[in-house]
Amino acid sequence: MSFYERYVLPRLLHVAMGQADITRQRERVIPGAHGRVLEVGVGSGLNLPLYGAGVTTVAGIDPSEPLLAMAAKAAARTRHETALSPASAEALPFPDGGFDCVVSTWTLCSIPDVEGALGEIRRVLKPDGDLLFIEHGLAEDEGVRRWQHRLTPLWRRCAGGCHLDRPIRALIAGAGFEIGTLETGHLIKGPRPFTYHYRGQARIA
Ligand SMILES: C[S@@+](CC[C@H](N)C(=O)[O-])C[C@H]1O[C@@H](n2cnc3c(N)ncnc32)[C@H](O)[C@@H]1O
Repeated sequence: MSFYERYVLPRLLHVAMGQADITRQRERVIPGAHGRVLEVGVGSGLNLPLYGAGVTTVAGIDPSEPLLAMAAKAAARTRHETALSPASAEALPFPDGGFDCVVSTWTLCSIPDVEGALGEIRRVLKPDGDLLFIEHGLAEDEGVRRWQHRLTPLWRRCAGGCHLDRPIRALIAGAGFEIGTLETGHLIKGPRPFTYHYRGQARIA
């Protein structure tokens, strides 16, 4: 791991992902989590204080040890039993059907094998469990899409593998989920290639 990945990127991510606009979106998603929750790409733990009384336990995974260390500090300040593990969403260290709810916030953009990860999420969810997500991705507008495709090769090198142009709805549906609720659009402020979002809930089809 480079100096940038170990010391700079985790702090940049923590600050960028803690902006008020983004926190407001988290507050629309996380209180809907329930039962045994798995959060994939838990990052620095910014969702952890937002889990509500309907949550029994939270398991959080992330491949970045520096981010997990930050998440551990956030976990220590919450009331839920939280277990954090260094793991990748493409190979979840959990049995089939063990979670009532899987949460993914701004993570599907960065996972190298996103189809593999969604297959794993499907495997560990109970048949009637919920996948709750808020993700940025491919915009509707053709002009914005062109910029997303142009910027992604450079952006992913600076931003921990983040893609601006992933078709989140199609990826989730293509992994065998039925999308229940979905809101799309430029849900936060900022340059348009970075702000098109998909916020919603899905179940195994
Ligand atoms: C933009 S950050 C978002 C962090 C957090 N989900 C949040 O809402 O603040 C992207 C996250 O995806 C994680 N990530 C990257 N590759 C991953 C993988 N293969 N499996 C799980 N998480 C991954 C990164 O380590 C990072 O924590």
